[in-house]
Amino acid sequence: MKNPEHVQRVISALRKEGTDKLQVISDFDMTLSRFGFNGRRCPTSHNILDNSRVISEEGRKKLKDLLQYYYPIEIDPNQTMEEKRPLMVEWWTKAHNLLLEQKILKSDIAKIVRESEVMLRDGANTFFDQLHQHNIPLFIFSAGVGDVLEEVLRQAEVFHPNINVVANYMDFDDKGVLRRFKEPLIHTYNKNNTVLEKTEHFQLLSSRTNIILLGDSLGDLSMADGVPNVENVLTVGFLNDKVDERRGKYRDAYDIVLEKDETLDVVNGILCYILGDLN
Ligand code: TMP
Ligand code: MG
Repeated sequence: MKNPEHVQRVISALRKEGTDKLQVISDFDMTLSRFGFNGRRCPTSHNILDNSRVISEEGRKKLKDLLQYYYPIEIDPNQTMEEKRPLMVEWWTKAHNLLLEQKILKSDIAKIVRESEVMLRDGANTFFDQLHQHNIPLFIFSAGVGDVLEEVLRQAEVFHPNINVVANYMDFDDKGVLRRFKEPLIHTYNKNNTVLEKTEHFQLLSSRTNIILLGDSLGDLSMADGVPNVENVLTVGFLNDKVDERRGKYRDAYDIVLEKDETLDVVNGILCYILGDLN
């Protein structure tokens, strides 16, 4: 924490003002899902598809090449978001076009997820169940694949009715074959009001003026930009990769930075305190 007093003040305010005013806004990949396990990288929602048996060997190689080229750009602390933005559009567009070539079936998604190595962070069940029990809206704002991430949550039995997801959703033809990705395209650095304009999501939650925001990218910090009349925001950033190079920027940007922490324990502890389950 760069400013522990500020964190303490915000957490006290969130607790005092109660659950009726609170909403949680979270990224999905590498924030709610794990970054690594036993020294191996865990897949993002895109990677779940990329690594699956429904993708041809050639397609898999091309998707891997894209990842190897664009991921270092995505996390490069020396390039600005403005510089990265067109390159992210390029990555997502190329990746989605490759996925479209593979004729993925809607009916295969559940099996693809079941056979993948995806994992939610330790403590995820407590996190989702706590928010559900206290009727706190959880908005998952993801540049990943909506159909896949929903299935991850469903299989973990945490896809409760308090959850609303905005992500890149697939569109299937009447035979259930993937034919396109729905608009607007969401990538790491346009997670803001520009892609939410048509959803009215935040307007429906206008009394929820206190926010806990969770992310793993600096692009995730704009996820709450469309919330009207914000009063208190607590931002928690997971710093998963290139920790030494990025520590300074993350500490400047997020209220709390969790370095190489594969759990939701800190967030659960804060929630427990705010929700009055802890004295
Ligand atoms: P998120 O917004 O839920 O974190 O999802 C976006 C992540 O997906 C981002 O960190 C990069 C990653 N990604 C892949 O792993 N493969 C891909 O093909 C693309 C386009 C993105
Ligand atoms: Mg992420």
